[in-house]
Amino acid sequence: MRKKVTVVGGGFVGSTTAQRIHDMGLADVVLTDIVEGAPAGKALDMLESGPILGSDASATGITTATGDYQATANSDVIVITAGFPRKPGMSRDDLLKANYDVIKAVVEAVVKLSPNSILIVVTNPLDAMAQAAFKVSGFPKSRVLGMAGVLDSARMSTFVAEELQVSVDNVHSFVLGGHGDDMVPLPRYSTVAGIPITELIATDKLETIIARTRKGGAEIVNLLKTGSAYYAPSAAAVEMVQAILHDKKKILPCAVYLEGEYGFNGLFVGVPVKLGSKGVEQIIQIELTPEEKAALEKSAASVRELVKVIGV
Ligand code: APR
Repeated sequence: MRKKVTVVGGGFVGSTTAQRIHDMGLADVVLTDIVEGAPAGKALDMLESGPILGSDASATGITTATGDYQATANSDVIVITAGFPRKPGMSRDDLLKANYDVIKAVVEAVVKLSPNSILIVVTNPLDAMAQAAFKVSGFPKSRVLGMAGVLDSARMSTFVAEELQVSVDNVHSFVLGGHGDDMVPLPRYSTVAGIPITELIATDKLETIIARTRKGGAEIVNLLKTGSAYYAPSAAAVEMVQAILHDKKKILPCAVYLEGEYGFNGLFVGVPVKLGSKGVEQIIQIELTPEEKAALEKSAASVRELVKVIGV
């Protein structure tokens, strides 16, 4: 039987994620939103692309405005993209609390019907929302993770490939920490065909790439004017879904709950993990220089402040 993935939140990131999963035939997809009609319309539109693309996966869209999540029952993976964008006059904390309320309501509803699922949180502020989902779900830490590192690393790899005029296939970038300006790109561990990029790119150019990676989300927002990135974020979420559904044991940077690893306790931080059918199957620990450790601590401190505000 085909696997089942629910995507909660049928906005730009959610619908693109559902579309990619459907198009790849990776799983049957259920797209949910609080709005009426749109998720069903988008899902039907996806389904009707099946004969052209050769995908037999099903796509269903439902509104959960009435609180009915039955169609999501027995999902293997649940990707959560539901949330609100920041509106004028809204402080960072207002947005944080508004999205926390969304995550809380959604997670409470979905975990009842899919008690064995793996949750992938995409809603921002990502690390804090992942921590909220972990606490609300009561799931083991291996089954709740946040998507950020895959996206941030992909952005860095894009810029490295562009700089060196090499295939993106050759580039492996390594970004740790929270999904924000304090994220920690690690050039020492980033390679092109196995060669550290520190040996291929001059320091000033590398610094430009790191700065652009850190502000990757803002660069897109500035161009789009309304809304934020969704093509690369959805691709990143789908890479994680695929690693889980295909039990790939793939090492990817993800936000996970740390209990002692990297010196952090009781906090979601972006680190390399092994992803397979059980979810987070291993947290990979690597040696960091004192500077890298300090940067990771600064990034984690930002996450800690956010989780304090919402009390999770
Ligand atoms: N249940 C389901 N869907 C909800 C709920 C809820 N309780 N609350 C809001 N939504 C829906 C909205 O109706 C909207 O369709 O979430 C969707 C969010 O979509 P967009 O506003 O298009 O935002 P998007 O660009 O998809 O980003 C979603 O991902 O990358 C992050 O920062 C981004 O937090 C944001 C999230």
